Amino acid sequence: MDAEILRERCAQELESSPRGYFGGLQWLRNVFVTVPREHFAPDRLWWPRPDEDGLYALIDRGKTPNRWLKAVYLLRTPLITQIDDGAIAPDAPANGAFTSSISCITVVIEMLRHLAPAPGDKVLEIGTGTGYNTALLAHRTGPDTVTSVEIDPQIAARARERLGALGVRAQVVTRDGERGWLAGAPFDRIVSTASVRRIPPAWLRQLRPGGVLVAPLDSPAGYDLTVRMTGTGCGAAVGRPVATVEFMRLRGQRTPQSHTCLGWPDGIDVQQWRDLEVRADQNGQRVTLQATAMQGPESAPAAPVGPASSS
Ligand SMILES: C[S@@+](CC[C@H](N)C(=O)[O-])C[C@H]1O[C@@H](n2cnc3c(N)ncnc32)[C@H](O)[C@@H]1O
Repeated sequence: MDAEILRERCAQELESSPRGYFGGLQWLRNVFVTVPREHFAPDRLWWPRPDEDGLYALIDRGKTPNRWLKAVYLLRTPLITQIDDGAIAPDAPANGAFTSSISCITVVIEMLRHLAPAPGDKVLEIGTGTGYNTALLAHRTGPDTVTSVEIDPQIAARARERLGALGVRAQVVTRDGERGWLAGAPFDRIVSTASVRRIPPAWLRQLRPGGVLVAPLDSPAGYDLTVRMTGTGCGAAVGRPVATVEFMRLRGQRTPQSHTCLGWPDGIDVQQWRDLEVRADQNGQRVTLQATAMQGPESAPAAPVGPASSS
């Protein structure tokens, strides 16, 4: 099995899907077929769904190389690269909380499409993971334009090494991404590949006016909404959900909080996510259902909600 062939096959599937993953954008197709995902995937990965014994199976490149490669190129399956913040070594089936992964292809591509980075844009990524998405970004925006922040030192070191080995010039910083990266601000694009309950104020301050922020935001429905927001200046942004998704939480935001305190109206129907608006500034965030959705039976029907894609 050849990785390039698998990549091309995935690209064709993404292209022909009614969901329009590439959105007709040639650059997005190009970055996908150019960056070797298998270069970033660790040799040992956990399958994200448990076997009958309740454990997540280990996929070992050394033992089953074809199975490993096929898994790496599954469109809708994230592969788990860390459990319980690294407390469990990837050498046997295991269970525990997923804390890092190589995100699934459909989610990665859809987020990039919504982020819409242009050549030369300065980009901040939060949650480097394997470095795969960092490489896709850098391929689009160019050398020394992407800063990626990863909280786990071992994961960051590995991503740095993998990016370097491929000649990708992107900076990987080990720190808590909730604080962003002031030294590189303002950013044209900010993307988080870990989900948040509250959009961190630092990201809003570090986004230039007119810049775009894409992040998975926790919702009262139990899944995340990918929100695409535009910076409005003075540390504020406004935008809308563009997809449903499930991501691992940013470390500092794992503890559940009341959605009311997070700016969600009581009793809101998250199934109407396409009609929600999200505003965030230095004082907090507010989610509202927009007027078109509240006009009654004559207004457009609420968009159907599909199963959330997981990261
Ligand atoms: C879903 S994984 C990212 C996957 C990555 N996009 C890829 O495809 O390889 C989320 C990552 O966010 C990192 N993370 C969690 N909390 C963080 C924080 N506060 N700051 C920076 N990184 C964080 C985790 O360690 C994990 O590696």
